[in-house]
This record gives sequence, structure tokens and C-alpha cells, in this order.
Amino acid sequence: MTELVPVPQDLAARAHVDLPTYRRRYAESLRSADDFWAAEAAFLDWIRPFREVSDTNFDPADLRIRWFADGTLNASVNCIDRHLPAKADQPALLWEGDRPGESRTVTWAELADQVNRLANVLRGLGVAKGDVVTIYMPVIPEAIVAMMACVRIGAVHSVVFSGFSAEALADRIRDAGARVVITADEGLRGGRVVPLKRNADHAAAAAGGVAHLIVAARTGAAVPMTPGRDIRWGPALTAADPWCPPVEVGAEDPLFVLYTSGSTGRPKGLVHTTGGYLVQVGTSWRTIFDWHEGNVFWSTADIGWVTAHSYKIYGPLLNGATSVLFEGVPTFPDSSRWWSIIEKHRVAIFYTAPTAIRSLMREGEAPVRRHDLSSLRVLGSVGEPINPDAWHWLHRIVGGGRCPIVDTYWQTETGSVLLVPIPGPVANKPGAAGKPYFGIRPVVMDTAGRPVAGAGRGSLCFAGSWPAQARTILHDHDRFLRTYFSPFPGHFFTGDGVERDGLGYYRITGRIDDVLNVSGHRLGTVELESAIASHPAVAEAAVVGVPHPVKGQAIFAFVTLKADQPENEALKAAIVALVRERIGPIATPEALLWAPALPKNRAGKILRRMLARIAAGDYHDLGDTTTLADPEAVDEIIRRHRASQ
Ligand code: WT7
Repeated sequence: MTELVPVPQDLAARAHVDLPTYRRRYAESLRSADDFWAAEAAFLDWIRPFREVSDTNFDPADLRIRWFADGTLNASVNCIDRHLPAKADQPALLWEGDRPGESRTVTWAELADQVNRLANVLRGLGVAKGDVVTIYMPVIPEAIVAMMACVRIGAVHSVVFSGFSAEALADRIRDAGARVVITADEGLRGGRVVPLKRNADHAAAAAGGVAHLIVAARTGAAVPMTPGRDIRWGPALTAADPWCPPVEVGAEDPLFVLYTSGSTGRPKGLVHTTGGYLVQVGTSWRTIFDWHEGNVFWSTADIGWVTAHSYKIYGPLLNGATSVLFEGVPTFPDSSRWWSIIEKHRVAIFYTAPTAIRSLMREGEAPVRRHDLSSLRVLGSVGEPINPDAWHWLHRIVGGGRCPIVDTYWQTETGSVLLVPIPGPVANKPGAAGKPYFGIRPVVMDTAGRPVAGAGRGSLCFAGSWPAQARTILHDHDRFLRTYFSPFPGHFFTGDGVERDGLGYYRITGRIDDVLNVSGHRLGTVELESAIASHPAVAEAAVVGVPHPVKGQAIFAFVTLKADQPENEALKAAIVALVRERIGPIATPEALLWAPALPKNRAGKILRRMLARIAAGDYHDLGDTTTLADPEAVDEIIRRHRASQ
């Protein structure tokens, strides 16, 4: 049995939740879910209070997910206005630029001023309640301003990761039907320039329908501006009125769309709504990170991911907390950058990803030891299972053995954390994502679709709704039903495998669908395969994940060329470049192997599981190869893989 690491006494004594409270509240949250969530909802300022708490049903034939439906509110008022009386001149955001020495502090009053002005600019462009605005920006305060300005007027933000290519951005603009895109002249990451405006120009041209681009100045580079279409952030905000009345929206009105990868080619735009999301994100953020007034919070996630939406932006803002925004990467200009920022801002709560920890571990302890990290109280991990080696390094070297690690399991779809060792009552089990959050009922399903009782392994599902979960996939409710609610009727299916131990700890064993997790980024195999297959020389491709010491999983591509196409390094490079152009650098294949043909079953389905074994150098236990359409192809693939190692 794996060791449990108890939460230090002094932290447990101050924590928001102690063990008896945790047990009692968890039991109550299941027994009387509506009472529990109604009490949590008092955390927000409502315009019209709700009377109905929930109306939910996970039966795919009659799916209903509605929380606080007759209540009304405004998200930006909850995130900003209500903190102004007490905190106007205190810092809301502590921004650190890509290069050390470049930093800015944004107070709550300054944030409010910028948000109101930009909201008026958007209104002036005809953006109204329910319209989607696409945001393609670096991690700079203006990105937060942009999100808040949207929700002030009831518009829906769709943030697209600034590492995505112009083509990927175009797909997301088109799918969302965005008329307005907010971007910056350029981004900076690790000393490298990212041509955001240029990408946005290409994307706008490809997507069509973009009436306006608002361009914030990050580097001040001269970027071409299209008259009548493009608007400079600075002058537009200066000219705008500093007060914009907040628009009243219903709890079930959309707050944002966020795209993520699934097991088919098209990215899906998950739709999150206002009331339930804000209630659960705001209350869970302070509980799972045990935030206390005065604690500086820092999440290293990029704004393009759900981690940032819920627990870097909405969570801290809703609670009036000061948080750090860092534009760059952990290794620039050297590998002590993160630790210097923690020291500079006396960060108390630090939320990051295992892949980054694994890469920093390689640099040894010296870069950490050079800095005073005694301000740290709580550490957090997200995105993939944290391997015990990385866990212990983070705990001992970064946290000085004092800080619990909250390993938070959740997804873009779930909106908020579902499994977590709440610091205080729940001891840490390195490598396990803890226990269910309040109101959450995990179910481990066996292959026959029966719940596993007690300890065991299976597919991770959840019974019963929670307020922050996504309501649909934009323009594709059928896919929403099919993907999440049909596999195990009456349950939400995550796509993850899980193991529950005798103490009730959950350990995620990885995706069981055709989704890869590369450095904590979700990538669909089909999405990658279609990017590869769009090269004119390619007949077919199959993509699998291979274990990687830093990335967790790396992308391994098997590619079959059209007849008479030469298998050479130049073509490999061209295919890799094409994938980067279609999706972005995060999708770069680690390895590419020419395959004479791909193993398929008689129904024509590519046997990715078999290919994953081969890619990992495990040529045994490939299953029954006699049922393959072309068994010789597998022998040849193995021969070539062996030769390439
Ligand atoms: C997938 C969701 C929401 C966080 C950022 C990723 C994996 C996420 C953990 C964890 C093990 C994890 C799962 C999940 N995952 N957190 N703590 N332990 N696995 O959001 O891009 O929607 O990806 O990330 O496989 O399904 P996402």
C-alpha cells in the first residue's frame, strides 16, 4: 500500500474545512444536494434571487442540466465591482512579462476602469448579449480585461490558446460565428516573438464574417491595420466612457465557449453557463487551495485552457484575491525563473502541471535553492497524473516538505474540480487525485457497464449533476449526448480510466478514448491524423501516444504514403511542418515512421492500440494478428520500428 502524507498540523488547524466538517458536509451534499448548493450560491451577488436550485437528469433521452435557472446576475459585477469598496487600490493582478524586469501591477480600480471602457467599445461595435467574441491573446492583463468586458455586456468569450496556428484559430472563429476578435500585435514566449496579429489576419480572412479586430499593444511592433476593420486598443479605450452598466443575464445564459479536442477530428466548443459555473468555481477555488485573505495565488496555466478560466481567472477574481500572471516559460532566461517570481511576490499558493515539474527536475535542485520559497503554503497539480517522483520533488524541494499538494482532477467539460485531496481533512496520496469534492459522486464502471463496488478499476463516470458542468457542445448537442451520456446511461462519462483503492482514493490511469495528453494538452488522434493526411503525398496516417519522460505522452505517427512517393527525411520534415501549421507547435510529432500499410481489422478500423504497443517498443502481446486485413504489414512495421531505435 502506498504511503499517505498527512497535511501538516498548522495548516490543518487553519484550513477552511476540517475532517469532521468534510465528512459531514460531503454526506449532506449528496443527501440534500439542492440545500447544499443553495447555501453555496449565497457566495454570489444575484440581481434576482433564484427559487429553483436544480433541474437535472442524466438520461440521454431527456438530458437536463439546469442550475439556479430563474436567478439573474452579472459575472463582471461578481468578479470586480463588489470588491471595489474595500480593495480599489489593492493589486488584483501582478503581471510578470516574458523578460525579467518587465512587470505591471493592476489594481481592482484599474481593472474595473479598463473593463468598463472595453465593454463600451464592444457595445459600440454592435456586440450584444449572447454574441461570441474570440480572444487570441498572450498572458497579459488585457486578456483578462477582454474576458471581463465580454461578460459585462452578456457577450460570450471564446479564448483560443495563442500557441494555436492561424488555421486552428480560423476553425474556432468560424464555428463560434464570432464577428469581433480581440488580439495583440505580438506575443512573447521564452524570448521568441509570436506573430499574433498576422495569425489573426490570416484567420479572419479564412473564417470570414469577422467585422472587427481589436488589437492590444504588447510589443509595440508596427503591424498592418485594415482601415474600417481594425481598432487599436489604447486609443479606443481612452475615448470610451469609463462606466458601462452591467447587463443582467439569466443563470443559464452562456458565459463562455472553450474548445477542446475529442476523439473525432473537429474540436468541440464546450458551452459553460453563468450561475452554476460561478457558484461552484468561486467556492471550490477557495476550498481546494485553502485560500485566506492576503494569500497571493499563482497558476501557471495559459489563458487558453480551462485551468486558467476556472482557477486562474474566475476563482481568484470572484474571491477578490491577488494573483500572479506570468507571460513566459519556466526556463527563460534560466530555469530559476518561476522560483524568482514566487520569491518576488511572496506567492502562497502555486498551481502548476506535472510536465513542467518533470522538466525542471532535470535542472537539479540548485535553481530552486537560490530562492526563498518560504511563502508557499499550498501546491497544486493539474492536467495529467503526477508520477510519484515528480510529486516528491515538488513536495520536498519546492514545498520544503511543508505544503500539501492538491492534485486536482477535472476537465474542460466538468468546469470545476471533481476529485481532489482537500488540504486539511484529506491526507495526500502521491500519484492519486484524492477524493470527491462536495456534491460529486464518482462511479467506477466495469467493462459490462456495471458499477464496481469498493476497490477496483474501470471507466471513470459521475452520477448526478454539479453546477459548473458544461451544458452542451456549441452547434452539436447530439455529439454532447453521444460522447458523455450515452456510453453509460444515467452517468457522465469522462473518457478516463481510474483505479479506486480501499481508502477511497482515486488514481487516474489515463485516457481510454482516442485522446492524447501531451504535456497536459489534450489532442485528438483523428485531428492529428487529418492534419498529416492533408499532405498530398500521404495516403493514410495513424497517431498514437508513446510514454515520454517529460511530456507524459509524445506523439508518434505511422504514415503510409501514396504509391511512388519517396520515403525520405525531407518529406518527414514537410509533414511535421504541416501539422504545426494546421494545429500549432504543441501538436509536433516526436517521431514519424513510414508504414507500408496500417493494421486494420476486417471492418477497416485502424488498430491504434496495437500501434501504441509497437511505438513503445513492446512487440509482444499484440493481440490476434490473424484477424488483420493485412498481417504482413505489422511484421514490416515492427522491423522498421526496431531498426529506427
Ligand atoms: C483530461 C482533461 C482541467 C484540467 C486541465 C486539463 C487529464 C486532468 C488530471 C489529474 C490525472 C488528469 C484527464 C482529463 N487530467 N487533470 N489531476 N490527474 N489526469 O483539461 O484539457 O480538458 O483535459 O486531463 O485525462 O480527462 P482538459
